[in-house]
Amino acid sequence: MKKIVSDIIKKMIEYFNGDVKRINHAIKVYGFAKSIGEIENISEEKLEILEVSAILHDIGIKESEKKYFSSAGKYQEIEGPPVARNILKEFSLDDKFIDRVCYLIGNHHTYNKIDDIDFQILVEADFLVNIFEDNMSINNIETIKQKYFKTKGGLYFINNMYLK
Ligand SMILES: [Fe+2]
Repeated sequence: MKKIVSDIIKKMIEYFNGDVKRINHAIKVYGFAKSIGEIENISEEKLEILEVSAILHDIGIKESEKKYFSSAGKYQEIEGPPVARNILKEFSLDDKFIDRVCYLIGNHHTYNKIDDIDFQILVEADFLVNIFEDNMSINNIETIKQKYFKTKGGLYFINNMYLK
């Protein structure tokens, strides 16, 4: 799996084609997601799903900008899974794995659909990066923490990075 993850990082970098901001965003979300997953001691299978989903979570952004002139979450959710499927079909991954990754990519802004720890951690990791990238206010950070952060790893990071 280790090799698959770095090969998928290579594919994501190729796909984003010099868009360094998006590449960095994906790598940061991946780093937080993997760390929280390890802190929470989630199963090896869920950790692999989480790592791959984090790398590809915003992969629909280019197609949404092309088709709808928008990078809004709802369009990314529609456009992301087919692009991810196309990338993942080159790897020997089973259908269940790919379907779960696509579910996470296709719903990662729809917080009422969080149904398991992999999804929960992906959302927390994306917030940990977006808080900084979008320069959010302390009030906003507090609200996000209360509403969306549940894991001890995620809470540790948000508290120590933004609320000290
Ligand atoms: Fe993101």
